[in-house]
Amino acid sequence: MQLPVTLALTGASGAPYGVRLLGALTALRAPVHLVVSATGWRLLEEELAIRGEEGLRAATGDWSSVTLYADTDRGATPASGSASSAGMVICPCSMGTLASIAQGTTRSLIERAADVTLKERRRLVLVPRETPYSAIHLENMLRLTRAGAIVLPASPGFYHRPDRIEQLIDFVVGRVLSQLGLDHAIGPRWQSGEPD
Ligand SMILES: Cc1cc2nc3c(=O)[nH]c(=O)nc-3n(C[C@H](O)[C@H](O)[C@H](O)COP(=O)(O)O)c2cc1C
Repeated sequence: MQLPVTLALTGASGAPYGVRLLGALTALRAPVHLVVSATGWRLLEEELAIRGEEGLRAATGDWSSVTLYADTDRGATPASGSASSAGMVICPCSMGTLASIAQGTTRSLIERAADVTLKERRRLVLVPRETPYSAIHLENMLRLTRAGAIVLPASPGFYHRPDRIEQLIDFVVGRVLSQLGLDHAIGPRWQSGEPD
């Protein structure tokens, strides 16, 4: 049986990455524990005109393998280290959430689930979007990397000569799926002479 992936969408710009990732996971029939922060919901509406759970369902395919939890429910399944999990992705990941995980303060379900993922030595993939970075952002990212997290910035490459926004989104989403060890065909594949 496939273990569930916890997927969190927070309030950084980049809601299209999170929506595409959720759609890719539902297409793979991967079990998903989904959590969206309050600002994450706001960004879904601002960037994609997606309103609430119904809107997100309509945009991301078959939800038979998805369970949605409220970010305020700190007692939900992803908050427990004894619940089996294939790891966690926060995409997009705000610098606020990233800072909280780096400091271990865990005041929401998303932050608690990430904290648990680190303590259980499971895969934690963070997809931040901010520019420029302050020294505090960089220190928090280094701290998390040293604690075992993968910091995978929403920084698509251009060597595959994209001419559509979807190709830029897929570049990042493909990298996330690869970090989860999932078999997929999203985003460009390495060819001889191309950079990372
Ligand atoms: C329209 C909008 C865009 C934002 N863009 C970003 C962003 O790109 N990166 C970031 O780190 N924070 C961004 N923020 C700030 C976060 O949403 C804010 O720090 C929030 O408290 C994060 O809470 P959350 O991590 O629980 O979603 C943005 C906020 C708004 C309202």
